[in-house]
Amino acid sequence: MSADQAAAEAAQQTRPAPRRVLVAGNWKMHHDHLETIRTLQELGLRLPEGASSRVEVVVHPPFTDLRSAQTTIEDRGLPLVLGAQHCYHQDAGAFTGEVAPPMLARLGVRYVLVGHSERRRLFGQDDQQVAATLQAIRRHGMVPVLCVGETEEERAAGATEERLAAQLTAALAGLDGEAVSALVVAYEPVWAIGTGQTATPEDAQAACAFIRGRLVEAHGPEAAAVRLLYGGSVTPETTLELLRGRDVDGLLVGGASLRADSFAAIVQAAMGARSTPR
Ligand code: PGA
Repeated sequence: MSADQAAAEAAQQTRPAPRRVLVAGNWKMHHDHLETIRTLQELGLRLPEGASSRVEVVVHPPFTDLRSAQTTIEDRGLPLVLGAQHCYHQDAGAFTGEVAPPMLARLGVRYVLVGHSERRRLFGQDDQQVAATLQAIRRHGMVPVLCVGETEEERAAGATEERLAAQLTAALAGLDGEAVSALVVAYEPVWAIGTGQTATPEDAQAACAFIRGRLVEAHGPEAAAVRLLYGGSVTPETTLELLRGRDVDGLLVGGASLRADSFAAIVQAAMGARSTPR
């Protein structure tokens, strides 16, 4: 083998895995376990053939539905991955009402949302708790989906990047580039969540490019392989345009993920998004 060939092969081996498109449905406090089973079954029927080879599709049902969702997905061999919406940062103890990361891991949960703006705003989750929770999720072999985003006021004041940088710094302190590359970060502008006001594809791309650049700067070049999602009033109609942004690797979908028909339509649109993996 020539030196050139050897170098090319070495480069191939060290190249980070391509960033697979990820579409995640955040069901928030909707669907009891029976509705979840029905929705998953219908999703199984509606998801386009070969969807899972192009797009990783994740559902985040409420806690009480997770066991039913796990068995439905497994028994029917559905091309879906299980996610959770929240957890506590301790493994066990006197924390009435909370759910521990190892409990989620035992249910086959792969992705856990952390720092969603509803948790931050309505339940007082602060940056310190977000960081501790993110570490706990990683410790149990699951993937944190760290949510960041600016409010309407911050956006109007031109402080979007400052806000994103502060949230990233607080949540990811001490992680090296490799650890960051294994995370998912969701850019969710607070003003776009549940409002019907989707960010423009240009704004979503600009924010995701900023986040990737910032992570590389703070954690090293390996961090570039992190997957970045956009979230906030995504619909089947806006999916393709949003995913055209070269730094937008997927979508976090609330309202439009509740019904199997619209969520399947989003997955279908996402399948057309990338001819070559990035
Ligand atoms: P939405 O929610 O799609 O209903 O705006 C997104 C989210 O909160 O993750």
